[in-house]
Amino acid sequence: METIRGKTSLDMDLDQLRARIANHNRIILDLGTGDGKFAFNLADNFPGHFVIGVDSCRENLRGYSRASLPNLLYVIASAQSLPDELTGLVSQVTINFPWGSLLESLLKDDARLMLGLESIMGSGARLEVRLNGGALSEAGWTLEDGAERVRENLSRAGWLIRKSETMDSTSLRNFPSTWAKRLAFGRDPHALMLKCARL
Ligand SMILES: C[S@@+](CC[C@H](N)C(=O)[O-])C[C@H]1O[C@@H](n2cnc3c(N)ncnc32)[C@H](O)[C@@H]1O
Repeated sequence: METIRGKTSLDMDLDQLRARIANHNRIILDLGTGDGKFAFNLADNFPGHFVIGVDSCRENLRGYSRASLPNLLYVIASAQSLPDELTGLVSQVTINFPWGSLLESLLKDDARLMLGLESIMGSGARLEVRLNGGALSEAGWTLEDGAERVRENLSRAGWLIRKSETMDSTSLRNFPSTWAKRLAFGRDPHALMLKCARL
């Protein structure tokens, strides 16, 4: 799989990945990581966890991917074609404020995404999705209807929705990702968080 550090891409095979994640008790994957700030924060605050930020767009990752935390890795991949090297390794996936094809795949019950998520997850895996009103309205949905559609699709794909919680401007301001901050101070500071567990 393709990993990135600053402007440099490096190929990493399964043995190299296994060596990097050895001795870490949880593998957390942040899908659609953007500039990678959320992943960086997690890795920095939880040295016992190994954090992998994944995005299809490399340009925004140049800054945070220069960080030399031993428990942090950035991977360039599409959510619809997650690398085989990740199979069965991941304990938790976060998808924060998706847009574009990532949001579309959640709304359309895209098997490439749903089966990909299933294949990278280990047993007892958790999934957290944060959806924002602006991105859903650009995709032609209200926050409530879009979130309901995503809930239905996740349930069909074998996820139990354990918690569904709204996020207002204060919780967005306090959430440690770049996009959350933008949303908090933007025109539509509303989002919805879904916490899911594997059935
Ligand atoms: C609004 S940004 C959110 C970034 C970050 N999660 C945050 O909270 O700051 C959405 C991100 O999803 C990524 N994305 C969209 N479609 C994707 C796909 N199919 N596969 C991987 N990443 C995707 C975009 O490149 C972008 O970085």
